[in-house]
Amino acid sequence: MGKTNIAVIILAAGKGTRMKSEVPKVLHEVCGRPMLLYCLDLVRKLKPYKTVAVLGYKHEEVRKYLPVGVKVAIQKTIAGTADAVKQAIPELKGFSGTVLVLYADTPLLKESTLRALLARKAENDADAVLLTANLDNPSGYGRILRDKYSCICGIAEDKDADAFQKEIKEINTGIMCFDAIELTKALRRVKPQNQKKEYYLTDVIGIFHGQSRLIESVNLKDINEALGVNSRVDLAQANGIMQKIINKKLMEEGVTIVDPSSTFINYGTKIGPDTIIYPFTVTEKNVIIGKRCSIGPFVHLRENTHIKDNVLVGNFLELVRSRIGKNSFMKHFAYIGDSIVGAGVNIGAGTVTANFDGKKKNLTVIKDNAFIGSHTVLVAPVKVGKAAKTGAGSIVLRNTNIADNAVVAGVPARSLKKSG
Ligand code: UD1
Ligand code: CA
Repeated sequence: MGKTNIAVIILAAGKGTRMKSEVPKVLHEVCGRPMLLYCLDLVRKLKPYKTVAVLGYKHEEVRKYLPVGVKVAIQKTIAGTADAVKQAIPELKGFSGTVLVLYADTPLLKESTLRALLARKAENDADAVLLTANLDNPSGYGRILRDKYSCICGIAEDKDADAFQKEIKEINTGIMCFDAIELTKALRRVKPQNQKKEYYLTDVIGIFHGQSRLIESVNLKDINEALGVNSRVDLAQANGIMQKIINKKLMEEGVTIVDPSSTFINYGTKIGPDTIIYPFTVTEKNVIIGKRCSIGPFVHLRENTHIKDNVLVGNFLELVRSRIGKNSFMKHFAYIGDSIVGAGVNIGAGTVTANFDGKKKNLTVIKDNAFIGSHTVLVAPVKVGKAAKTGAGSIVLRNTNIADNAVVAGVPARSLKKSG
């Protein structure tokens, strides 16, 4: 009933030594999203019979990112990828299908690629299928060794490869699928005989070859998918590629991005059609922008900012945890935080919501058609009524409730006109 004969093992135990970080590697973000979550997306789409995540370094922290249903196996010492897979095997007791191994540091991998890998295994009844790629600069990756019939006979890790093997351009992406029973048997035979003194999963391939098992490969067309993030330099590269993917998708959906190379849209930001995004717009988590808006240049839309249709956010603004109603405009430098702004509101140049009192964040409410004069400071909590106005340079003190249609001005701001 929809259950596939596939079990997935996600390897995410490593510290990521080369990142030089306190943060577990798989929680480092690509376009504002932990790498591990990209891997979990793939898993969800494959609908496996079972998924086991192998965690180690700071596992309590990493665990929080796993959805219910994903089992956890703890690798106590980081002794290599084969050792990591071994920790997951008890969770797969009695399972005799295909085991797919994913590395949580490969955030650009696509579902279609995994499907091709699994299809190859099923069609040819192979014992193992590897995802390989041909790279101009293969350094750092395991090299695929082939015999004179061009059959895969092993993998040489970069650190262990001899000069001849280092010349090989075909690399191991790390993504592999195996026959569950044969994998379990072979894992027992892996020995830590290499430079790193680790148990290498890649050695299973050599073992399979020695047993004349059928080892197949699928070669990646888009080599970007193979990018395994080991360092901050790799992370920046993954970010760049993912950013291009995100921006392209938005453009295909009808958003104008004037200069995609200088526009930094977070994973998951939603933008409506006919909105124009000018250069140096940066968005963070949970940002939604409506249709026919104009955003930027130089705009920072931080977390939980929701902008309705036909809104103009001009240059040099920061918005955070705020909702902006339709047809509102804020054309020049301002800070709007923890605010609920209605429709048709004008936010003058230099407006600041003083949302933080030193202890907590406070709410600013600006009702429909209000006019906030240039250089107004709204000391929250504060409320500005419908069609009310503040004069240029007003400082509206905290707990002020400006009535509908009222006009206030000065320091501190006082009413100039009775509401009516
Ligand atoms: C690995 C492959 C290499 C391949 C490359 C692709 C091995 C021995 N080498 O090298 O052939 O070209 O990936 O990116 O498999 N992990 C654990 N426990 C461990 C060790 C690693 O869970 O004991 C996890 C890491 O968290 C990471 C993944 O396994 O998510 C890969 O480990 P990493 O150390 O990055 O392997 P590479 O040196 O990149
Ligand atoms: Ca890696």
